[in-house]
Amino acid sequence: MLSIFVISDEYAFRIELKDLLDQHGYNVRIFSDISECIEQIKSGECDLILSDLNKDNNTAENILKSVKSINPNIEVIFFTESESIELAASIVKLGAFDYMQKPIIPDNLLIKVERALGHKRMIEEIERLQENFKREYGLQAIVAESKEMLNVLREVTQVAKSDSPILIQGESGTGKELIARAIHSSGRPGKPFIPINCGAMPETLLESELFGYMKGAFTGARINKKGLFEEAHDGTIFMDEIGDMPLITQVKILRALDFGEIRRLGSNTPIYVNTRIVAATNKDMLSLVKDGKFREDLYYRLNVISIKIPPLRERKSDIIPLANHFLKLYSARMGKDVKKISHEVRQILLKYDWPGNVRELENVIERAIVLAQYDTIFPDDLPTGLQSNQPDIIKIAIEKRWSLKELEKEYLSNVIKNYSGNLSKAVETLGIARNTLWRKMKKFGIK
Ligand SMILES: Nc1ncnc2c1ncn2[C@@H]1O[C@H](COP(=O)(O)OP(=O)(O)OP(=O)(O)O)[C@@H](O)[C@H]1O
Ligand SMILES: [Mg+2]
Repeated sequence: MLSIFVISDEYAFRIELKDLLDQHGYNVRIFSDISECIEQIKSGECDLILSDLNKDNNTAENILKSVKSINPNIEVIFFTESESIELAASIVKLGAFDYMQKPIIPDNLLIKVERALGHKRMIEEIERLQENFKREYGLQAIVAESKEMLNVLREVTQVAKSDSPILIQGESGTGKELIARAIHSSGRPGKPFIPINCGAMPETLLESELFGYMKGAFTGARINKKGLFEEAHDGTIFMDEIGDMPLITQVKILRALDFGEIRRLGSNTPIYVNTRIVAATNKDMLSLVKDGKFREDLYYRLNVISIKIPPLRERKSDIIPLANHFLKLYSARMGKDVKKISHEVRQILLKYDWPGNVRELENVIERAIVLAQYDTIFPDDLPTGLQSNQPDIIKIAIEKRWSLKELEKEYLSNVIKNYSGNLSKAVETLGIARNTLWRKMKKFGIK
């Protein structure tokens, strides 16, 4: 049973809360001060704390510090006497889960309690998943700080135990294979995980790889051979770049999905396999379906459970944690003592767009460690594409109260500089005629 600690120096209030929560099946214990229950929190008896804020040493800061230092996953909800936005904001900033104004409204309280407990459950499940994954894949770890990535991991924990096929979608380098492995290690640990790239092979080779073959099935088939579906029995087959799979092969995959049945090339005997299919793509599958390049029925079959990994630029709060993760990983691997990322570099990493996503970030950090001359990574250690310290021109224009003309002049000269004086490229970008550009350059005194 889930256990809630109520802290308040008001006897009547404690009892009121206890009665309410008891009725709803929670195990409730009451205390008049945080110091009375520290030992119980330490021994793991508490899932959630509801606390009053009306005593000197029961300040939000005190309580949160004591609780979070024992277990950061225990959430705290505070009760305040007055509705003060500043107070509420400061409490949440300190790390409280939520706050409520007294007198409490039972339904509201119950909703918040359920939400807080659900949040704790989710975080713990994700931590278990990450631990599991580390155990199975050694040094590798899944870094997830952004709420987008935590959502992805929550989906992983939810779908891992089922046997349905899964489609993972995301731009290249976002971590599709990593997530596929996490699904596998969570749902079918210790069993084979077999990746195959469906886009890299001609159709006949792909089929003999997937389904295996019988001796004599084609020239060169000198022995009977198991396919990857059979190799991955009880485990997972990871079909990467599924969007590039030939249409003929797609039919056979559909049969494997519907009946768990495959046939080796050159054989009519069905073989039954318990292989989970996890597929991945960086293509827009719906438009492949529309263009007749991907079977609609297979798409809908694979897409029953779909996980979308957002590009790195849409979850910027993962950038620095990932960079630190790769820093540790590669400096250890290379035996180089690079420990820090300078402030400037952090700013550059945060500003960059990361078209190659996490893989690009990984490569940038690896390269920087090779180049680093000190224990810190400086901008010089980054590829020139990232270093570009072009000023944010609009911001400057607003700060300096430029006129439209001044802005035009600045933009023109920046574009020309950007193309190293190649005027054909400049006119193309600016969308004006070469003559016009000449005139403007003369007018603004740009050389
Ligand atoms: N959240 C993460 N935490 C730690 N490492 C990550 C994370 N996401 C991606 N990586 C690392 O980034 C690299 C790229 O990830 P992965 O190969 O899974 O991407 P992908 O989406 O399959 O890319 P592609 O489309 O190019 O095949 C790998 O080295 C992977 O370990
Ligand atoms: Mg991949």
